[in-house]
Amino acid sequence: MKKYLITGCAGFIGSNFVYYMLKKHEDIQLVNLDKLTYAGNLENLKGVEGDARHIFVQGDVCDKALVQKLFAQYDFDCVINFAAESHVDRSITNPEIFVATNVMGTVNLLQCAKEAWQQGGGWAPGKKYLQVSTDEVYGSLGADGFFTETTPLCPHSPYSSSKASADLFVMAYHDTYGMPVNITRCSNNYGPYQFPEKLIPLMINNAKHHKSLPVYGDGMNVRDWLYVEDHCKAIDMVAEGGRDGEVYNVGGHNERPNIFIVQTILSQLHDQLGDEEIGENLIQHVTDRLGHDRRYGIDPAKIRAELGWYPETSFELGIVKTINWYLAHEDWMENVTSGNYQKYYDEMYKNR
Ligand SMILES: NC(=O)c1ccc[n+]([C@@H]2O[C@H](COP(=O)([O-])OP(=O)(O)OC[C@H]3O[C@@H](n4cnc5c(N)ncnc54)[C@H](O)[C@@H]3O)[C@@H](O)[C@H]2O)c1
Repeated sequence: MKKYLITGCAGFIGSNFVYYMLKKHEDIQLVNLDKLTYAGNLENLKGVEGDARHIFVQGDVCDKALVQKLFAQYDFDCVINFAAESHVDRSITNPEIFVATNVMGTVNLLQCAKEAWQQGGGWAPGKKYLQVSTDEVYGSLGADGFFTETTPLCPHSPYSSSKASADLFVMAYHDTYGMPVNITRCSNNYGPYQFPEKLIPLMINNAKHHKSLPVYGDGMNVRDWLYVEDHCKAIDMVAEGGRDGEVYNVGGHNERPNIFIVQTILSQLHDQLGDEEIGENLIQHVTDRLGHDRRYGIDPAKIRAELGWYPETSFELGIVKTINWYLAHEDWMENVTSGNYQKYYDEMYKNR
């Protein structure tokens, strides 16, 4: 039985990964270490309650004693690090926590894995550390071309800088100690369980309640959108078959400007709910994010050629599935937007 330490899996992508893995693999053990920050929610894991293959541990990836204890207890074959502070806007107002979790947390996991897996001069067989990273580490593209695995790192925001720093440490553990590692760098994900500070769930939730839809700048920033399940499939494939020390870019060849995403959500909700108040008049252009990268685009040729990965869900289908999920999960939305959400929202978008 393969044993995984997965971190940050009460969040968006991680919780989807838990569902994906338990459906795909019969005989696995997932130990899910999550601090339960504002972005982590046990509601996201309700569907696996009672499944003995998933064990939840509340804790911090920076807590060395705890991570060492988990390694001693479970003898992990694979570590997949999803845990992160993940929101660019929050990194602009509070960069320190991004360094703590994203950089120091990664180094702590690497060090604990090294202590547990290094044997004599070599490494115990069959081990793997996988870092879940982002295309944002490459910086911003002009109108042409795509990021490839050899594109130099050129992060701009405190978030992407912390993710790039973590990636460098992962490669340092490979280059210095020979640790078996992979890094995946994925484009923007969308789908169920995403915290409504991110573009798609934010716009769905606001439109449904006839609230204004804050769009940064001219709305022409382009992102490469990937349905979250396709990302989960890529991570599973890289964990299984990625070559040691390699980076794999993951993207959907699905580039869309933000304003197009917002217009699509509005027209879909308008038609589906038959609600005449949902329309483009709700769009409110607000002052742009500081240092806002203009365009991201991924060429996933390497992961396709080496591992046979390709995205299965088109944007047209994925966005409908996503809207339907949020419409059907009003309780979930209410739950995650209780507490400090409104205060944060007002600070973020008022007077912009
Ligand atoms: N969302 C995207 O579009 C996207 C794209 C590419 C890469 N990524 C990367 O994927 C990973 C997951 O992203 P997400 O969108 O699911 O993020 P998220 O914010 O939804 O979830 C992050 C999770 O990490 C947990 N966490 C935060 N700090 C922690 C700590 N110190 N110790 C333990 N747990 C902690 C949170 O409680 C939460 O459950 C991140 O590493 C992110 O950089 C995200």
